[in-house]
Amino acid sequence: MNLIVQSNTENVEAEILVVGLSRHPENTKGWQQFSERFSGKLEGWTKDLSFDLKSLVTYPTLSGAIPRVLFVGLNERKKLTEEDLRAVFGQVGKELTKKKIKSAAVYLGSFQNDSITAENAAYLMAEGMTLGAYRFDDYKTTSNEPDSLIETVSILTEEDAEEVEASAFIGQVFGLSVNEARTLVNMPGNLLTATALADYAQELGNMYGFETDILGKAELEELGMGAILAVNQGSVEEPRLIVLKYKATEAFDNPLALVGKGITFDTGGYSLKPKDGIVGMKGDMGGAAAVLGAMQVIGELKPEKNVVAVIASTDNMVSGSAFKPDDVITSLSGKTIEILNTDAEGRLVLADSVTYAKQLGATHIVDVATLTGGVIVALGKDKTGALTNDEAFFETFMEAALETGEFVWRLPLTESDKKRIRKSDVADLNNSPGRDGHMIFGGGFVGEFAEETPWIHLDIAGTSDAGSAYDLGPKGGTGVMVRTLAMLVERMAEEQ
Ligand code: BES
Ligand code: ZN
Ligand code: ZN
Repeated sequence: MNLIVQSNTENVEAEILVVGLSRHPENTKGWQQFSERFSGKLEGWTKDLSFDLKSLVTYPTLSGAIPRVLFVGLNERKKLTEEDLRAVFGQVGKELTKKKIKSAAVYLGSFQNDSITAENAAYLMAEGMTLGAYRFDDYKTTSNEPDSLIETVSILTEEDAEEVEASAFIGQVFGLSVNEARTLVNMPGNLLTATALADYAQELGNMYGFETDILGKAELEELGMGAILAVNQGSVEEPRLIVLKYKATEAFDNPLALVGKGITFDTGGYSLKPKDGIVGMKGDMGGAAAVLGAMQVIGELKPEKNVVAVIASTDNMVSGSAFKPDDVITSLSGKTIEILNTDAEGRLVLADSVTYAKQLGATHIVDVATLTGGVIVALGKDKTGALTNDEAFFETFMEAALETGEFVWRLPLTESDKKRIRKSDVADLNNSPGRDGHMIFGGGFVGEFAEETPWIHLDIAGTSDAGSAYDLGPKGGTGVMVRTLAMLVERMAEEQ
């Protein structure tokens, strides 16, 4: 999508003009100029249209240069929030894709109010439209129409063209990176194996000049990553530990670690999932996808903050060689773990990944994972659950989440929860203390490996996959947390 800023409405040519419509449209910034562009007819067209938020109406203009106008309801302009506007543009992105529009023009002033500046509006426009326009290229051999992507968007504004264009570019980078993560989540486990995921990460690394290290089974054995290896034990696919370093400084001091769960398919292992619960488990690498998506934003925008991505990837399978309940394994940290449930595999691969991130010098850690069904019971499908051991770090994180509009809610992690994680007759820890509040046990287990390092755990089991289409995209992978993780890095860069 080419983003072009234009100040002169006279010369605009586009298949469609997108206009935000609120009560009293005549009070809209720059309305007069636009009205003249269509010989004063604009007002007449809007008379009977709905102002309801996200309502869409297309109007023929009988003008050759701009043959159609898409009016988008904004309700009361002064009440319009950034989140509303992102959703509005998500719907616009969907509508333009559906209409197979290649070139659109956006009357930016019609989406602004006292708190939403031209730059804000441009950012939200590019992000929302990029997200809304997403479609997964599926594997159907019939009626699989090629994507008709929006090629050009002319942003019509009288304000600082350079700043508006820069903001729109950032919005687009965020949107495209989320879309990449969505595609990874949507890919089936037979095609997106640990090896394939590592190849993807290697390509990303090459593209942005990240220092990339892909560890195979032999290297994991040499290092003693007993937890990842236990999960991989029943698989014919090799595991991978993916490490990407974004070096803002040569010394690579105080890196933030982004740690992702990359289970390419989760059968549950011997603690086998029921047939209804197993479908969809191709998405159990949503945490890995979020981390890779965030790394894409980081590669594009190059913030002043060192970041290391660590992703452990394998499937969790059943076979004669698979690990099983009652097994005792030794993790990279040296801590021993009693396996009570092989379906609680995410926390195991995260445990070794977090330890490895610490060995690489991480001073802050965020892990992100489709970890527990418990988070869905607690918070529903639209809220990411969080745990932390550091108030200040979490505050910075929440500022980032508020900015991106991704809903995150923190749960407690108490000493008595930790006691239950540490309770075992035979080992230092057990991997499944019980079903009561088990989102806390899942995340808390990972926290045992973060130890004193400031750490945030994000459980995206509910939010990583949308059961039906929503404002910002279709059913399927959502790419949740890509934007918030990237925004967190931006904030930490500003803070230091
Ligand atoms: N991958 C699942 C969690 C999950 C559930 C993700 C639903 C997406 C949708 C995870 O590995 C798992 O199976 N967790 C168990 C933990 C239990 C055994 C303690 C669960 O949530 O039931
Ligand atoms: Zn599982
Ligand atoms: Zn899992």
